[in-house]
Amino acid sequence: MATPEGNKLWGGRFTGATDPVMEKYNQSISYDKRMWREDLDGSKAYARCIHKAGLLTEQEMLAIVSGLDKIGEEWSGGVFEVKQGDEDIHTANERRLKELIGDTAGKLHTGRSRNDQVAVDMRLWFRKAVRSLKSRLVDLMKVMVQRAESEIDVLMPGYTHLQRAQPIRWSHWMMSYVWMLRRDYERLTQLSDRCNVCPLGSGAIAGNPFDIDRVTLATDLGFSGVTDNSLDAVSDRDFIVEFLSWASLMSIHISRWAEDLILYSSKEFGFVSLSDAYSTGSSLMPQKKNSDSLELIRGKSGTIFGRCCGFMMTLKGLPSTYNKDLQEDKVAMFDVYDTLEDSLQIATGVISTLKIHEEKMQAAQSPDMLATDLAYYLVRKGIPFRTAHGLSGSCVALAETKGCSIDKLTLEDLKSVSGEFTEDVLQIWSYETSVSQYKAYGGTARTSVQDQIHKMLNWFGQLTV
Ligand code: ARG
Repeated sequence: MATPEGNKLWGGRFTGATDPVMEKYNQSISYDKRMWREDLDGSKAYARCIHKAGLLTEQEMLAIVSGLDKIGEEWSGGVFEVKQGDEDIHTANERRLKELIGDTAGKLHTGRSRNDQVAVDMRLWFRKAVRSLKSRLVDLMKVMVQRAESEIDVLMPGYTHLQRAQPIRWSHWMMSYVWMLRRDYERLTQLSDRCNVCPLGSGAIAGNPFDIDRVTLATDLGFSGVTDNSLDAVSDRDFIVEFLSWASLMSIHISRWAEDLILYSSKEFGFVSLSDAYSTGSSLMPQKKNSDSLELIRGKSGTIFGRCCGFMMTLKGLPSTYNKDLQEDKVAMFDVYDTLEDSLQIATGVISTLKIHEEKMQAAQSPDMLATDLAYYLVRKGIPFRTAHGLSGSCVALAETKGCSIDKLTLEDLKSVSGEFTEDVLQIWSYETSVSQYKAYGGTARTSVQDQIHKMLNWFGQLTV
């Protein structure tokens, strides 16, 4: 039975062909327009490819390519006009191409689907994103290494369980994070290499029927190979999951770094002060200086993992090949990318402007942190470590009984615990002496820290990105 809205059985606000809310809900142009360049690059390569396959004349191919170039100029000049009905970047660019060159535009999509188109666009976009993230990562690492080099003589307490453990170099602490970031860099390289294969030529699902040369197409777009199965290719978002997992781990690393610095910048520690550029005050308490930059780095790591988790849930149980659920991939990818770009720059800003307070670090060291050194002293005299550990423990207890710190025990006191203690034991009560014994590579002795710094500098030297 006909209704006032034509043959639609529903009325009310559903007056148009599509529910306007559905149009808004369905579109991705509001965010995927940032892939305009990649969409045009993919289309130009595809036009050249189908020209070679005899589907476009030379003239048609040139008309399409120059039309696409013109569209590129519009996008980069900020004058491209998104129109009603431009559902995504692919439809927008094609609609504009038709306006510019007429019906020939309709030949561009021969054998292609938005399914393989979006898959290729994202991989192209992602490749550039990786390049940028890598250079931000290296910027941060370089500043950290520079500080580690120039502040190599600064000692601080090292913590386990957040309890004072053993004296270490501040630079050793700093470098511990640089190594985490280096692994992040390497993982990013590995995952981006893995995803550098071209899905274009997979069509909607079944492949391409026009005898196109996919290898040349892939090479043209800078890919190192082609995807092997069209069904897999149109719905494979493993690279997004790998990226989001990578981002989660990387941001966990910087969240831990941020947490250390938040603690170290508190009045209780006082080891560092953040520059004003990266701190804020309190609207109520005039004395407050908060390390908001670091707290946000820490907090955003949770949001990033949430994106990772959310997108994996989107993928879970999807039926074979493309489903519109996959459009959510871009929301996660762009958001995480943007957040990391900021986090890495903020982290670099924080560490390059931070002031350290060596005297506070010095003052936070306590002689009890040298109890291990006392045991090592006995080990060097031939006593088994387990026994030496017990004897050093007895010295700690003796100091407690006497109400003094362990370094204030007299030689006689020490001798009462072990006859192996001689005059030279008094030399161990130095944090400098303590750190200098950790000479094996990877330890906190000056030479070992220098070695790891050199290793890292060499690695920077051979980077190509
Ligand atoms: N905007 C879509 C996306 O991002 C493009 C692919 C649409 N394909 C389709 N069969 N509706 O996933």
